[in-house]
Parts: sequence; structure tokens; C-alpha cells
Amino acid sequence: MTLALSHAEMVRLLGLSDPAQIEDLRRAAYDRATATVGDAVHYRGIVELSNRCALDCYYCGIRRSNLAIERYGLDRDEVVEAAMFCAEAGYGSCVLQAGERRDEGFVAFVEECVAEIRARSLSERLPRGLGITLSLGEQSLDTYRRWRAAGAHRYLLRIETSNPALFASLHPPAQRFETRVQALDDLRTAGFQVGTGVMIGLPGQTLDDLAADIAFYGERDIDMIGMGPYLHSQGGAMPAAAMMAKDPLLFLGLKMIAVTRLALPTLNIAATTALQALVEDGRERGISFGANVTMPNVTPRGVRRNYQLYDGKPCLDEGSLECRGCLERRVIAAGRRVGWDEWGDSPHARLRL
Ligand code: 5AD
Ligand code: FES
Repeated sequence: MTLALSHAEMVRLLGLSDPAQIEDLRRAAYDRATATVGDAVHYRGIVELSNRCALDCYYCGIRRSNLAIERYGLDRDEVVEAAMFCAEAGYGSCVLQAGERRDEGFVAFVEECVAEIRARSLSERLPRGLGITLSLGEQSLDTYRRWRAAGAHRYLLRIETSNPALFASLHPPAQRFETRVQALDDLRTAGFQVGTGVMIGLPGQTLDDLAADIAFYGERDIDMIGMGPYLHSQGGAMPAAAMMAKDPLLFLGLKMIAVTRLALPTLNIAATTALQALVEDGRERGISFGANVTMPNVTPRGVRRNYQLYDGKPCLDEGSLECRGCLERRVIAAGRRVGWDEWGDSPHARLRL
């Protein structure tokens, strides 16, 4: 996919600091979103089905070596019930996310959940059933094929950063950049629509890196993007001082959404929860900078607190119904409407079909 902007132009836009110029960028990205992906914002209800994780990413609050949190795993009925809430609430699709595990028990568990959700969600309202996105990390091609055959059709796997040296500074040596890239290729081979994304404002990350991240999305022919600010996590292994100051971080995150929208206009781009961890209206601001997807939390309230990838995660005490109404107000405040009952695949992905 060719980019509509040059590297130098992307770097320049990401570096804007004058409020009037940032507003021009926002307006241009918002208008481009209206023209290419339309005025609907699509919901994906996110089910955080387990915080057990075999990995040890230095930034992440549910990393294996964080012994301070209670580990949980929802059972099949709980996962299916949360997904059925999405179907009934008109969300059109859900995301099943968890810490990374590759054991056969987990792979088979996910397979069963996916098949049951697809079968049970078929209705007049959802003639194709609920759309299912998975966000379950690096797996073998065989596992991806099984999950695709069970009925999931989109997969989110963030590259975290397209700079291999920066990637290496965020992960133990066993977690390799090349393997992550290979997994993105395998997802495509298995027939998924592929989503990726990065963390914004990482220690040592430059504007050149961020522009290269957008180029990476284009080169890998990515269908959807989920990216957000890097936030400190108490359970992680990085110093609190490594996090950028809130205001510049928020604006860098918003500019990154806008520049991605202008460079790759037909992708789905999420206004991620991490934006709302920085400021109360972070998600509506993401939408007003060109995002067209948002992910209401539908995880049972009792365990939400134990799925904190970063500090300050919002919506810990709200129930799924409260988030539904709250997020609709946020979408409307950003001048958009909710794309109820739709899978909401990106125009880019639809072209591939
Ligand atoms: N700050 C921001 N995002 C984070 N993630 C994990 N930890 C953090 C953090 N401290 C993101 C990663 C991962 C996704 C599931 O959550 O990008 O891919
Ligand atoms: Fe969850 Fe506002 S989005 S309560």
C-alpha cells in the first residue's frame, strides 16, 4: 500500500507544536476519515479473558514476573456471556484478549469459545453472527489456522515499534522482533484481517521512528491499527521517569492518529483506552483526530482490576452497560454516530475480499 505522505512530511506533522497548526491537522484528518471510512464509529467489545501470561515485556503490568497481582482466567461460559452481551447491545463485534499462552489447553479453549460465540450469536439482528477479533499474541501458523477455522476473522498483534533496536530494549532477548514480524505474515497466510500498532512516546523513540511505524503499516498491508501512548506501569520494569509528560504525550498520540489517517486513509484506526487513561475525554479526542473504532470494556467487573497493562486504566468500576451509554455520548460528542450491529471491517480489508 503506498503512503499518501512522504517520510519528511510525516515527521514534520508529528512535530507540530503550534495549536493552530495542530487544529488544521486534526480537521484534515477528521475530514479524511469522513470521506473514506464514513461517519460511523464501530464498537468492538473487549473481553479480557485472562491475565495469565508467559511473557515478560518490560512495560507491561501483567508480565510474568509481576507477582503482585492475582491471576485469573474466565471460564467458557463467562467468555461467551460477555460476548453475548456485545451481540445484544448492538456492538456487532467483540475482541478476545489475554496474556500470551501457547499451551494446547489454551489454544483449544479459545477455539471452543470462538465456535460457541459464532453459533450462539447468529440472529435476525446479526445474520452473520458476532464478528470476532482475537488479540492473543504470537502463536504458530497452525494455531492461527485453527482459530480462523473456528470463526474468528480479525487479529490484533502490535509490533510495539518498527525499530528493532528499540523493540529489543523493551523485551527480554527471547522475545524477538523478527518472530513478531513473522507472526504478522502468518496471520495473513491463515486468512485473518490483520491489525497492528505501536506504543507512542516510548523512551528513546524519535519522530523518525514514528513515521517509520506508519510506513511499516503500509508495507505490511495492514488492515487496522490500534496504537496508544506508552504509560508507566507499576508492575513493569521501567522507571516512572521514562514516561513523557502527560500533555505532550497526549498530543503526540493524537497527531500519530491524524498522520496515520492522512497517510493511509482506508484503514480502521482505534481510539484506544490508553488515551482515556491520560485525559477524561481522550477517546473522543482520538475520534476527532481521525479514529473510527473504539473498544468498550465488557470484561466482568470483578476481574477488571487485575487486567491493568498500565497505571490509571479507566472504567474499572463501571459495568458493561454503563460503558455502552458513556461511550455513545463520547462518540456523539465527537460528531460521529455509532455503527450499531455492523462488523465494520475497514474499506482496505473489504477491497481484499
Ligand atoms: N502502556 C501502554 N500500552 C501498553 N501495552 C502494554 N503495556 C502498556 C503500557 N505500559 C499495550 C501493548 C500491547 C497491548 C495489548 O497493550 O502495546 O500490545
Ligand atoms: Fe467506560 Fe465511560 S467508557 S464508563
